[in-house]
Amino acid sequence: MFQLTLCILKPDIVRSPHLFNVREIITLILKRQFIFVKSKRLQLRRERAGEFYREHQEKFFYSRLVHYMSCGPISCHILGRENAIKEWRSMLGPTKVYKTIFEAENTIRGQHGVTDTRNCGHGSDSVETAQREINFFFPEFDIQSLSKYENMLTN
Ligand code: TYD
Ligand code: MG
Repeated sequence: MFQLTLCILKPDIVRSPHLFNVREIITLILKRQFIFVKSKRLQLRRERAGEFYREHQEKFFYSRLVHYMSCGPISCHILGRENAIKEWRSMLGPTKVYKTIFEAENTIRGQHGVTDTRNCGHGSDSVETAQREINFFFPEFDIQSLSKYENMLTN
């Protein structure tokens, strides 16, 4: 099934001198036959980062996560593909970077992740979450236009 998902490349990836990593990761994503539907580079204010991750507000890592996600520019993308949600998360690899050492060295988190918080990227985890997260960063985007992007792939 054709799907859209939200991809975020987190501050460590976007920040100089690692900016080249954005190009490298975008190339990998394109090689996996995703299309970039919309892209935006922005810096989140602390409150907005907190709102984005509100499902985690009771967790021990919440304030560290919110601080990190608002510490510099991030690169946000709506990605489209067959099973985009699962495919992008599998390219990213496990949330906890130590888990990549033996099982998932060749994932984006395996290659570029530093800690559990500074783990390079974000990917939506379900269709409902993807809708909410796309709307969070791209409120002007009409999610109902999904079929237009599906046609771009099949034509
Ligand atoms: P989570 O939704 O569990 O992971 P994912 O990003 O793979 O969907 O957690 C959201 C973010 O919270 C995660 O990308 C990084 C941060 N985090 C920590 O800092 N420490 C942790 O132990 C966990 C589980 C997450
Ligand atoms: Mg998550």
